[in-house]
Amino acid sequence: MDEQITIVIFGGSGDLTRRKLVPALFNLYLKGRLPPGTHVVGFAKEEYSQDQFRERLRGGVEEFGGKPLDAAQWGEFAKSLLYVQGDFTTVADCQRVQAKVRATAGDASNMLYYLATPPAFFPTIAEVLGAAGMASEDKGWRRVVIEKPFGSDLASAQALNHTIHQAFAEHQVYRIDHYLGKETAQNILFFRFANTIFEPVWNRNYVHQVQITMAEEVGVGHRGAYYDKAGIWRDMFQNHMMQLLSLVAIEPPASFDADAVRNEKLKLLSAVRPISLGHTVRAQYEGYRSEPDVTPDSQTATYAALTLFVDNWRWQGIPFYLRSGKALAEKATEILIEFQCPPHVMFDLPEDYQLTSNLLALCIQPDEGIHLRFESKVPDTAQETRSVDMDFHYRTSFEEERLPEAYERLLLDIMQGDAALFTRSDEIEMAWRLIDPIIEGWNSREASPLHTYPIGSWGPTEADEMLAGEEHHWLRGCSASDHD
Ligand code: BG6
Repeated sequence: MDEQITIVIFGGSGDLTRRKLVPALFNLYLKGRLPPGTHVVGFAKEEYSQDQFRERLRGGVEEFGGKPLDAAQWGEFAKSLLYVQGDFTTVADCQRVQAKVRATAGDASNMLYYLATPPAFFPTIAEVLGAAGMASEDKGWRRVVIEKPFGSDLASAQALNHTIHQAFAEHQVYRIDHYLGKETAQNILFFRFANTIFEPVWNRNYVHQVQITMAEEVGVGHRGAYYDKAGIWRDMFQNHMMQLLSLVAIEPPASFDADAVRNEKLKLLSAVRPISLGHTVRAQYEGYRSEPDVTPDSQTATYAALTLFVDNWRWQGIPFYLRSGKALAEKATEILIEFQCPPHVMFDLPEDYQLTSNLLALCIQPDEGIHLRFESKVPDTAQETRSVDMDFHYRTSFEEERLPEAYERLLLDIMQGDAALFTRSDEIEMAWRLIDPIIEGWNSREASPLHTYPIGSWGPTEADEMLAGEEHHWLRGCSASDHD
């Protein structure tokens, strides 16, 4: 890839640029993956000199880059960082940025517009880019990257898609869900479709249930103002959770081509049965209402759990239990596939002894890996069995000290024009179609039960009861101490 690329970051003075984008770009540079001649232009209203801007980003790389900063290499990289002060909601200032790019990178530079602003600006920026003629691909590609949240419900997501499509064609639009950039999330597709032995049992004939847990130890921190409006359904379920669900449950795409993958994801989401409110639990952690910028009588859920069913040939009747929350006992994202018990037990086991079913754990974070639980004969016994584990850990199987940050993969893919790990307009709208009725349903309920749970717990007991009612319980499967 030896094309000229200019990345214009709208809202370039913000946190995302400092914490994620520039550290990721610097790592790509160190690995020799950033095309030579790439420029990064921060565009925001704050007053920074070029040096102040670079210093600010250097601080970000030192803090969040994951390794000690090599001053000489940073010095070289930093030459490509520019800052333009201006109002990104005006055509005139956007054109100033364009003029700056022409002066620095020439007339033929490809342009990547990264919208790292508060979401309220997304429609205006798209309109302004269109009006300034900056979406036209006459002189190289033009791509626009939209951060989450993409809308706050179906109607706003549709409106945003509509506005963006006035200026950009769908192939120019990259909607980010950083979970898809995680190595372990991508590996779900490789695990399923680069092997032969798992796919034949990946269906209702062998699977008993699927669970996805996305637990966070942290509370809302300094993001109270945003979070209190978004809540767990919008913050985690509509996007990250639906994406993980899609990867686990889709039919095999014919290729790793963006549309082949996204067509299957859309098909899967379309097959999800409308989720009944009775199959959902929502709760708020104790003390949430005293967090900064949270309203004192907030009804926002910080935890949610639900049961869903996929109405297709592969998954008919198999429950998918999903849960996510903040201020829980630990940070853990894991997908568990529990298989059915053997249909007949030939061993002479004690009467009350239950064979444990096989459990496959896809460990997304923090201890990335895959574990398979199976039954084994206990040595030196006649017929006793016990569950044991077959473990794969990234940290021991691969030499890399750490897995690359999601943003490295995503930025690289955008520059290469590969949209497989980005959400298409119809897919994002389909995810809203599933989550909207839950949010509306809870909001319109008269005596809406918003449960509470202690900080550092595993959530409200009502979520346990929801599963117990179906003779299930929440499973864990990713760390040695997890086995229930
Ligand atoms: C973000 C949410 O999209 O994902 C945050 O807005 C959440 O609330 C974060 O903390 C979790 O991401 P990760 O990569 O830390 O699991």
